[in-house]
Amino acid sequence: MTTGTASDGLSISYPRLRARLDALAEIGAIDDGGCARLALTDEDRLGRDLVVSWMRDLGLRVDVDEIGNVVGTWPADSTDAPVMTGSHIDTVATGGRFDGTLGVLAGIEVLETIITAGVELARPLAVAFFTDEEGSRFAPDMLGSLVFAGGMPLEDALAIRGFDDAVLGEELLRIGYAGPQPCPARPPHAYVELHIEQGPVLEAEALTIGAVTGVQGISWTELSIAGQSNHAGTTPMSMRHDAGYAAAAIAAFVRGLATEMGPPQVATVGRINVHPNLVNVVAARATLTVDLRNTDDALVTESERRLAVFCAELAQREGVTIEARSLARFAPVDFDAAVVALVEEVARARGLSTKRMPSGAGHDAQMLARMCPAGMVFVPSVRGISHNPAELTSDADLEAGANVLLHVLLRLASAER
Ligand code: GLV
Ligand code: MN
Ligand code: MN
Repeated sequence: MTTGTASDGLSISYPRLRARLDALAEIGAIDDGGCARLALTDEDRLGRDLVVSWMRDLGLRVDVDEIGNVVGTWPADSTDAPVMTGSHIDTVATGGRFDGTLGVLAGIEVLETIITAGVELARPLAVAFFTDEEGSRFAPDMLGSLVFAGGMPLEDALAIRGFDDAVLGEELLRIGYAGPQPCPARPPHAYVELHIEQGPVLEAEALTIGAVTGVQGISWTELSIAGQSNHAGTTPMSMRHDAGYAAAAIAAFVRGLATEMGPPQVATVGRINVHPNLVNVVAARATLTVDLRNTDDALVTESERRLAVFCAELAQREGVTIEARSLARFAPVDFDAAVVALVEEVARARGLSTKRMPSGAGHDAQMLARMCPAGMVFVPSVRGISHNPAELTSDADLEAGANVLLHVLLRLASAER
């Protein structure tokens, strides 16, 4: 048996971690090396089954909760609040192979390293993957961890209709992951998540580890525009009620809004559907989504207000109706100061360059922060590319991040903290 301090020299097995990352990336593989495992699809189920099989092989107790989150705990018979790690294995439809999967599979690797070395710890360890982190099929994002933390009633979550019209609760049952464990869950002792940065900062500054201080505020709105379809050749421009034009005007407006407000404000129209979508027909209807983010919640609210004013004026001018539906609204989150300091300390102790930084992307850790001390470890993304099959992190950085996670979890689960 190794004690907490004697485990200082412990390291994860990178070949074992890499093999699991590669095996999971085979499920829902798409061209150019990416992955499509939208939440609660058949591909998600196959990914879940594989990760659960690895948890069982390790001798973890595997619990599935009412929203389909899966938690593997060691020792299997423990009932105390665990030190938890994890992330998600669902992807956007054109995702990479590291977003989320790194946090889950590095978590499994860390547990395997600790179990194999026979390290004795004061607290149990757990590795989780949360349902529908991406929100690409069922909004909002971070849905499973939100329900886990008590931020949304289970019944509301189960009733959510996806962009493909599927009902979340029905899909959960269909893939066999509507589990018995109650939500909200019992709070873990602490939660730390390893994730790729998904942005350009660490690479640009030639740093290896980000000690994540928090997550910026997120606002998602779906806008449904109703105009009048008409003949593209015969309808004078002054007589049109063009839903397609209105959608394009909103996309151009939010881009200008973010430019005018300046960093860190960002704004995205990532999805537009027009109907009937024909070359010679003025569009009758359009649906689009607007994603607004800022580290300052007052500025998120300000960007929402300006969008609403623009839509009201546009509707009047074009003679269309525009209905807004909120899909997600999360205030910025600060991570636990002691966890942030611990990530930084562990990285430095291992001779790794590090800096404190906020997260631009949403993460399950921001929901866990509602119920226990939480934090995150970032590793660099090559060219800052993510939500793209080209998503890449170097082997050395993946290994360094997993080792930082190992030693952060060891410290949190040892008797002193
Ligand atoms: C969720 O992963 C998001 O940041 O969009
Ligand atoms: Mn992610
Ligand atoms: Mn993502």
